[in-house]
Amino acid sequence: MSNTLLFSGSSNPQLADRVAKELNISLGNVDLTRFADGEARPWIQEDVRDKTVFILQSLSKPIDEYVMELVLMGDAIRRGAPRSMVAIVPYMGYARQDKQNRMGEPVSARVIAKFLEVSQFSELITVDLHNDAIVGFFQVPVTHLSALPLLADEIRSRNIPDGLIISPDVGGVRRARNLAYELDLPLVVMEKKRYLDKHDHSESFQIIGEVKGKHAVVIDDMISTGGTIVECAKSLVEAGATGVTVLVTHGVLSGQASQNLADAPIDEVVITDTIAIPKERQFDTLSQASVAPLIADAIRNIVQ
Ligand code: R5P
Repeated sequence: MSNTLLFSGSSNPQLADRVAKELNISLGNVDLTRFADGEARPWIQEDVRDKTVFILQSLSKPIDEYVMELVLMGDAIRRGAPRSMVAIVPYMGYARQDKQNRMGEPVSARVIAKFLEVSQFSELITVDLHNDAIVGFFQVPVTHLSALPLLADEIRSRNIPDGLIISPDVGGVRRARNLAYELDLPLVVMEKKRYLDKHDHSESFQIIGEVKGKHAVVIDDMISTGGTIVECAKSLVEAGATGVTVLVTHGVLSGQASQNLADAPIDEVVITDTIAIPKERQFDTLSQASVAPLIADAIRNIVQ
């Protein structure tokens, strides 16, 4: 790994540290400051010439600032003549805006993909995109990692009796089906209705299948407001589920999500560290699992 450098943006230095430890390297030095007017001013303090350089930055809140910081870090590194430069974006913000739901709206996920190209990254590593088709928005090779095996191991280690896997909406059926297959458990699907005129709001859950007397393991790609998971858990318990465990890759945890999850009829919420969860957003039923080994393996595959 002597010709490899890993830099961290401001969004998730904890994960970058864990990845560096997995690889037995130190993080590259970069000074991340801002001008008085808020403009990002990254300053790379390493010689990147002929090195394979990785920059880890999750596009979480404040997303627009983190996007800009990543692009500027990329530009600074490219000007130092690296051998290649790879963006590691464990959480790809804007991914839910992957299609035009109605006239007058942008396809934001595609715009972000194009924007990242400005800095001429040669590759991208990411985890559990909201929609696999987003890979096609990028011109460069994308290593699309799945946290599913990691989350499956979390469930295996808990020896939950009478478990079944729940997809909280029809869009997540493929993910839930893969987990059900991996754990050899039955699958139940819930139908969620969203209202386009109300941001971040979902209601109306219908359960397609039998959950009575079973422990429901709900899997989703992300928790933002928590509305989906909280309503889903309530419906499951009302329908006779004996317990609810939630598995999620990206803990966006907007607004009151942490409090709402803590108050919900949920035994445990397992979330990976693609997004840093600050102390004040952690809650008693939260467990964290790290994607650092996954990302470290992807880096090894690229540099070997
Ligand atoms: C939706 O398609 C996603 O898979 C998640 O279910 C959703 O984004 C979660 O959002 P919230 O926590 O705000 O309900």
